[in-house]
Amino acid sequence: MLYLTAGCSLFAAFSAPTMPAASVVGRAGASVSMVAEAGSILRGVWDGEDLVSVADGVLERNTMGKPWVTQRPRPRRNRKSEAMRRMVRECEVKPSNFIYPLFIHDEASNVAIASMPGCERHCLTSMVAEAKEAYKYGVRSFVVFPKVPDALKTVRGEEAYNPNGIVPRAVSMLKDALGPESIVCTDVALDPYSSKGHDGIVEDGKILNDATIEQLCKQSVMQARAGSDVVAPSDMMDGRVGAIRDALDSEGFTEVSILAYTAKYASAFYGPFRDALDSHPGFGDKKTYQQDPANGREAYIEAALDEMEGADMLMVKPGMPYLDVIHRLRQASNLPIAAYHVSGEYSMLKAAVERGWLDEKKVALETLTCFKRAGADIILTYYAKDASKWICEDGL
Ligand code: PBG
Repeated sequence: MLYLTAGCSLFAAFSAPTMPAASVVGRAGASVSMVAEAGSILRGVWDGEDLVSVADGVLERNTMGKPWVTQRPRPRRNRKSEAMRRMVRECEVKPSNFIYPLFIHDEASNVAIASMPGCERHCLTSMVAEAKEAYKYGVRSFVVFPKVPDALKTVRGEEAYNPNGIVPRAVSMLKDALGPESIVCTDVALDPYSSKGHDGIVEDGKILNDATIEQLCKQSVMQARAGSDVVAPSDMMDGRVGAIRDALDSEGFTEVSILAYTAKYASAFYGPFRDALDSHPGFGDKKTYQQDPANGREAYIEAALDEMEGADMLMVKPGMPYLDVIHRLRQASNLPIAAYHVSGEYSMLKAAVERGWLDEKKVALETLTCFKRAGADIILTYYAKDASKWICEDGL
């Protein structure tokens, strides 16, 4: 006979003042007499142990007479020490997996982004300093997102391929400062440059697909000329990956990679990003080009097209609420899969951390590890620098 004692004295101490000293209702529900005096119950002493027992035959005894569950496989053995846990760990997140998104603008100083604590809209010199610091911790890859003054925004977004625009200048500054081992990525879409606040050309309230692609091709070629290593179309027009591939190749940029935003959903989690760039849609929403959050199978269609059209890497965005989509694409494709841990996901963590509700380092590293477990090779995250610092601190 084995007696369960855990929690019993607590039970007695709590129940004593409100219950008659002579009887208590046991866990099994039966009313039983208590042998104990009222005084000993108040002192927290439980002496009714024989009232709670484990039925004969449930537990065996080992040769030392200790309780023994005759169970051979015990998964806890692989968790018994940090060294053991590390030895059997299925995936690990490293600074080299990250792409660090940086917000930039053409002004003399930085501006804080209220809805993204810890992130700033950088002036170009500060952008370089930030990238260099992250590089010290092992981050090699960066993507820049520009805030463009309203005066430069047009319906057709021509500023997107201005060779003297902020993005090409940022790219060459980053490549000069970080050297050839750095990977500088550029976003391809019209929204920062569109007077209508959409990713494509707007006509009669509609987003034109093919006319937009012509602009995106020019934008990609201009970015490649500036030294971009990876162009990342985030616009979700149909057929843009193939057109951009051809445009790049015909200009001799066969080595410039395409990171396709393959399964990009029409998500409310982009709110803080749009604050950062002042790029909220001028009217309506982006549901005619970005995917419906309810659709998982549809991501296979996008992935098959992007793969066929020559994408080098496939991205899922947002990240954490879409781990199932990351997992699906991981299984459907042999290309590297990227996850975008987007602005709203970052802001949610920051808000809880600021209130003292979550431990920032633990919760951020757990989140990033979960992307890898789901099947992502690459993670775009505003935590790239801090997470890399934490990973370095924790050592090999
Ligand atoms: C725009 C673009 C968006 C993001 C990256 N590129 C916003 C949008 O589609 O409206 C969002 C990134 C984030 O929320 O962190 N082409």
